[in-house]
Amino acid sequence: MAAKWVRMVTAQTPTNIAVIKYWGKRDETLILPINDSISVTLDPHHLCTTTTVAVSPSFDQDRMWLNGKEISLSGGRYQNCLREIRACASDVEDEEKGIKIAKKDWGSLHILIASYNNFPTAAGLASSAAGFACLVFALAKLMNLSEDHGKLSAIARQGSGSACRSLYGGFVKWNMGKNEDGTDSRAIQIVDEKHWDDLVIFIAVVSSRQKETSSTIGMHNSVETSMLLKYRAQEVVPKRILQMEEAIKNRDFPTLAHLTCADSNQFHAVCLDTYPPIFYMNDTSHRIISIVEKWNRTEGTPQVAYTFDAGPNAVLIARNRNAATLLLQRLLFYFPPGDGVDLNSFLIGDKSILEDAG
Ligand code: ADP
Ligand code: DP6
Ligand code: CO
Repeated sequence: MAAKWVRMVTAQTPTNIAVIKYWGKRDETLILPINDSISVTLDPHHLCTTTTVAVSPSFDQDRMWLNGKEISLSGGRYQNCLREIRACASDVEDEEKGIKIAKKDWGSLHILIASYNNFPTAAGLASSAAGFACLVFALAKLMNLSEDHGKLSAIARQGSGSACRSLYGGFVKWNMGKNEDGTDSRAIQIVDEKHWDDLVIFIAVVSSRQKETSSTIGMHNSVETSMLLKYRAQEVVPKRILQMEEAIKNRDFPTLAHLTCADSNQFHAVCLDTYPPIFYMNDTSHRIISIVEKWNRTEGTPQVAYTFDAGPNAVLIARNRNAATLLLQRLLFYFPPGDGVDLNSFLIGDKSILEDAG
């Protein structure tokens, strides 16, 4: 093997926002959930992760920088992703650069990773989803994996559960799966980004502070202590998943809106039902819910759906461009610029963008 080469790949991946939430694991190491979930992938122009991965015979250990700071890769999640990807790696040959890597070499070659989120990390905007999806996607390109997106989704899942859904665009379902080894716990696309392109999504960033309880710890405590979560996973979510899939296929906005809001509210009720109780939403989040609920009631049919992940930031889905304009006017009226609420708008995105940096 020649000594002085570096092979590098850069990928960019959007985040995804769940409309039927994943909350609770049946296996914490493999990251296997207790219910199916459904999300929408955002276009990657504002909220995305950019990750560059590099390999060279001159690197003597695996290292990673997140938002400019070196982080430890010793955590099980990073190790599991790296191991799984290395196990599927293929031969790589680039004559122009004098690079020749045989399948068996990947076990001894080291990787450097630099990742940047252009939005707040660990603030309930699914940085772990964009982050691990991007990492797995970039590594798969670096190591010339021939595996399909389904396999990559199952690997990204072992970094962060929600990441398995960011490998696809449009509306995406994560099947919880039945197998003990997790091979069937992966995401599939329900419809692509063109199917329902009337929708406009707003994210109102209420706080970019890091949350006090990470999703991982929060859902662990909920599984241990919340009876409501048991009821939700067994009785409520399976029915909602079927209804939500139908609503998406039929572009039925009232049903999508009703289920999305109800599911977000139940997820936050589970957080309150957890011991110690978890408060992800704040007063501004509650005000946004009231504004949307009141508006939808006045119109007689939903114009906007809201959903909140594990943080206070609102994700608002407007039924079309007209509703989006009215929503923006209302939000600017209630939260004038400088009032601490930052607004961003999105369309539904397609899957990861890849730029090969050579
Ligand atoms: P969030 O609501 O932002 O998803 P989580 O608590 O679920 O918050 O996850 C935050 C964790 O995800 C970070 O502490 C880090 O370990 C991981 N993470 C975030 N961004 C990236 C990234 N770009 N690449 C790899 N891992 C990331
Ligand atoms: C509220 O995927 O961040 O955003 O699997 O422990 O990394 P880990 O948790 P994570 O949890 C996401 C929870 C949620 C709902 C969702 O995205 O479905
Ligand atoms: Co997360």
